[in-house]
Amino acid sequence: MPGLITMDDLTNEEIISILDDAEQLLPVAKGEIFLPLLQGRILGNLFFEPSTRTRMSFETAMKRLGGNVVNLGDVKTSSVVKGETLYDTIQMVDGYTDIIAMRHPRQGAAQYASDSANVPIMNGGDGAGHHPTQTMLDLFTIRRAHGTLEGLNVVLAGDLRYGRTVHSLSHALVRFGCNVTLSSPEALRMPEEIISDLRNQGADVNETDDLLSQIVNADVVYMTRIQKERFPDEDEYHKVAGAYKLHARDLDDAKAEMIIMHPLPRVDEIDSSVDSTRHACYFEQAFNGVVTRMSLMCWLLGVKVPSDVNTMGSEI
Ligand code: NCD
Repeated sequence: MPGLITMDDLTNEEIISILDDAEQLLPVAKGEIFLPLLQGRILGNLFFEPSTRTRMSFETAMKRLGGNVVNLGDVKTSSVVKGETLYDTIQMVDGYTDIIAMRHPRQGAAQYASDSANVPIMNGGDGAGHHPTQTMLDLFTIRRAHGTLEGLNVVLAGDLRYGRTVHSLSHALVRFGCNVTLSSPEALRMPEEIISDLRNQGADVNETDDLLSQIVNADVVYMTRIQKERFPDEDEYHKVAGAYKLHARDLDDAKAEMIIMHPLPRVDEIDSSVDSTRHACYFEQAFNGVVTRMSLMCWLLGVKVPSDVNTMGSEI
């Protein structure tokens, strides 16, 4: 069953169509209108790693559309601790649900699950691999801020080595003709195979460790957390911890419409002084997770989003 494992599973036209449907669904996501497009459907939330936004926004999205959600819950209280394999867990949840959102510490786990499932699997993060549903909400946020996805100057900053959000996002940005600058400490550079993939797609990819010099030309600055849990050695983490910290005073020369994004959670990469600037976009970005995941689930379940939602639903 087609799911969403990497951004390669969607064409540019499909991405745009899902983002257009998400625009339509905004009043439903905000709770202004009730439109039970997914009534009777059940989402299975299988999170084998910590999650706040991804899990809760999937759940909110399904419930806003009139559907239901079953959760694996805390891995420690599930049969995983008894030694159940991922294969067996998926076989079972496949029978309980119509669609599954899954996060797992192992890279490739979502593809593995998808190969043996009958319902669509949505990859909510597989180790340091991919995070395509995050990319969909990131693209939605960028398009709402700039009116387009084409040809923007986007700086991806922080932990580009282990950060799965930037692995998926960089692929998508390049497909829409964005200029991508990769800004990280040397030890956290984007993996070579991803850079060469991006270049093979015709992208002009620049790398630098000097984030601040990139701000003046940027349309988007995408900050990421250093992924402490993925370091094989804690000492290596401490060498790079706190490498980048963005303060409001660093933004004086930024373009007026430049947005600062972050998949969250932040640790110390964005100082709270940035929150009250016109550039801060990360909380809106987190909200956009609901509406984009609503649209994505409709698309994967073959449910058409009406073109004028405002005249369809009932007021709450
Ligand atoms: C990200 C993740 O899990 O990869 N979080 C998220 O889904 N919003 C980023 C992170 O944990 O740093």
